[in-house]
Amino acid sequence: MKNYNVAVVGATGAVGNEMIRILEERNFPVEKLTLLASERSIGKELSFRGRSVPVEMLTESSFAGIEIGLFSAGGSLSEKFAPIAARAGCVVIDNTNAFRMTPEIPLVVPEVNPEAIALYKNRGIIANPNCSTIQMVVALKPIHDAVRIKRIVVSTYQAVSGTGKKAIEELSLQTQALMNCKEPVVKVYPHRIAFNCLPHIDVFLDNGYTKEEMKMVNETKKILNDPSIAVTATTVRVPVFYAHSESVNIETEKKITPDEVRSLLSTAPGVRVVDNPQWNQYPLAIDAAGHDETLVGRIREDESIPNGINMWVVADNIRKGAALNAIQIAEILIRKYL
Ligand code: A2P
Repeated sequence: MKNYNVAVVGATGAVGNEMIRILEERNFPVEKLTLLASERSIGKELSFRGRSVPVEMLTESSFAGIEIGLFSAGGSLSEKFAPIAARAGCVVIDNTNAFRMTPEIPLVVPEVNPEAIALYKNRGIIANPNCSTIQMVVALKPIHDAVRIKRIVVSTYQAVSGTGKKAIEELSLQTQALMNCKEPVVKVYPHRIAFNCLPHIDVFLDNGYTKEEMKMVNETKKILNDPSIAVTATTVRVPVFYAHSESVNIETEKKITPDEVRSLLSTAPGVRVVDNPQWNQYPLAIDAAGHDETLVGRIREDESIPNGINMWVVADNIRKGAALNAIQIAEILIRKYL
């Protein structure tokens, strides 16, 4: 079996760290691992398969001989460096927002549209969707195939790790400060996040929605390859470290019962149904954190419309919402295309 030269761009970040861990956990066939970050990280070393790997500075010449590049260092760096890497012969799997809606660049969730990976040939880039969108479409794809979803109303409860390492630290420091009757320092978000909920993720757009909300709207249509699905989203940052939770309401063309949804999802790839309210069992962020599956529960009929279902969908935003999804794409890429 062939081994591949892999680079992680943004290796010192929350997602980059997890990418390294998952490459190791899943025994991805890595020949050489190159870890790239900013000048600030020169001198740092990260562990991979029991060995220390030095972090190098990202430059235009970083990609000679690299076959797969896992990018998670921010949109503007991807905009600049992904095309440079692709020209050097590297296939880029990009975790940022830079290319997701570019028509000729595939936007992939392996459980949903693995066939789109073939389009990597267009630009040498595959986009990894937004974390909240990934877990939602993993849960909805089997239902959409069975009874066609006409409309989705989603509200999210998103963990601070989605913002990166600084936000994880900020929630921790603010919590400690407040528990010790000290003034919390607010730096990463516009308001205090500890013991609070912020209905504001990414920037506000002219239509009154946030960019995060419109990512959910537009990316869902692209991944499910169905521009006719109506989607509306409210995205909220909550004081949770890992795993996003989502209240998802769907209206379907044909009727489907909660039991039928449970049965469909019980065999769906990447999904675990956790739905025993009589035992207080339902998906929890603390149970999803550190795991691969998307947990789905609280499945019940929306009694306000003829064909409606409500559910609660939870997944680790750094794993399935980012690093794991990217590496699952890489696994298909090497198995079928490289
Ligand atoms: P660094 O640690 O050197 O700043 P997070 O999303 O958790 O904040 O992580 C962001 C990642 O992106 C980090 O690995 C960070 O590296 C990297 N990064 C930020 N700015 C640059 C840059 N100018 N060049 C290369 N990597 C960068």
